[in-house]
Amino acid sequence: MKPIYMDHHATTPIAAEVLETMMPFLTSDYGNPSSSTHVYGRVARAAVEHAREQIAALIAAQRSDEIILTSGATESDNLALKGLAYRQAINKGHIITIATEHKAIIDTAEFLKKQGFDVTYAKIDAYGVIDLQNLRDSIRADTFLITVQAANSEIGTIQPLRDIAQIAHEQGILFHTDAVQGLGRMDIDVVRDGIDLLSISGHKIYGPKGVGALYVKKGIRLHPLIHGGGHENGMRSGTLNVPGIAGLGKAAEIAKRDLIQESERLLNLRERLRKGIESRVDLVQLNGHPQQRLVNNLNYSFSFVEGESLMLACRDVALSSGSACTSASLQSSYVLRAIGVPETLAHSSIRFGLGKSNSAEEIDHLLDLLEKHVRRLREMSPLYEMAREGVDLDTFAWTPHDHHNH
Ligand SMILES: Cc1ncc(COP(=O)(O)O)c(C=O)c1O
Repeated sequence: MKPIYMDHHATTPIAAEVLETMMPFLTSDYGNPSSSTHVYGRVARAAVEHAREQIAALIAAQRSDEIILTSGATESDNLALKGLAYRQAINKGHIITIATEHKAIIDTAEFLKKQGFDVTYAKIDAYGVIDLQNLRDSIRADTFLITVQAANSEIGTIQPLRDIAQIAHEQGILFHTDAVQGLGRMDIDVVRDGIDLLSISGHKIYGPKGVGALYVKKGIRLHPLIHGGGHENGMRSGTLNVPGIAGLGKAAEIAKRDLIQESERLLNLRERLRKGIESRVDLVQLNGHPQQRLVNNLNYSFSFVEGESLMLACRDVALSSGSACTSASLQSSYVLRAIGVPETLAHSSIRFGLGKSNSAEEIDHLLDLLEKHVRRLREMSPLYEMAREGVDLDTFAWTPHDHHNH
């Protein structure tokens, strides 16, 4: 039997309705949407345009031609940053972001830095929330972009998007947000929230992998990364991935339709897990913001326990001890380090990513496993013994409050 899946930040399964929507475009309706001379092409074009409207509706974009279809959020993030950066004739200008962004943002920003652009990482607090005063202070005359994620994939912290947008716009700066983890879990409205560019990924909202979108507010021009047939208003060439796009559209429609009901259900499950952990396991530390966090996310450090060992012990449940991209190496999570979690506690952390298939029974099963295995692993830890005997082990007792005082 496969383990219970609780790693929905890494990816989500394709919803049955999504697969059903995709199937005709993988079989009988194989036309190229650029072929306007026959019905095959027109059917494909209609499917793409319908999907574009569904995606626009999810983020309350006013026009569907503000949606650029891509191969996923990594490309969307690259297109937003490089597409804006390369509009200038010379490789100069300033971008502001934060250190807990996904690597698709950080690595792109660092690449641009090598090319002559400047990048500032605005301060964040111990919960990972951006410091708005520091953001204001970081703005320069040549700042052209502020990019801050909607919500973090490891610690679930939600950023104050509207405040950030307001600060950006007061200075005539564009605001991009990577909303991959937030979509379908929180209400995002590009007009109300003042978002100029927004990245979307299909496979995080029960759609297919390898497809995504970038919302680009009307009037903003980007320098394309991929040149070719001039598709997507010249901003992203290449024959469109029609089955993927149709699937992304359907996934967006479902995410919008189910948002209120599903986020309430996830919140209940999350609180059941949170209360269970905090009442049944001692010496735990919640990472990320206590309230301002994704309804489907928890991230705990279990002192005196190796995260990897705990995951192995709880292999009935598919979990993660860091972001999907860094869990292959034994480096502690850069997100946890950025909010000041000490190395030892970062290595003791587990991420819980709830999703559609999870039930209260599964949460209760996980709680039984956690209680049992944390106790067993601690019994084998000499450090735990020392702590119980009263030896002062500073680094094993940390709270976000300590970080605030530093
Ligand atoms: C916040 C965030 N941005 C971007 C990505 C990359 O998305 P994709 O897998 O569609 O390239 C991910 C997925 O890990 C993510 O969590």
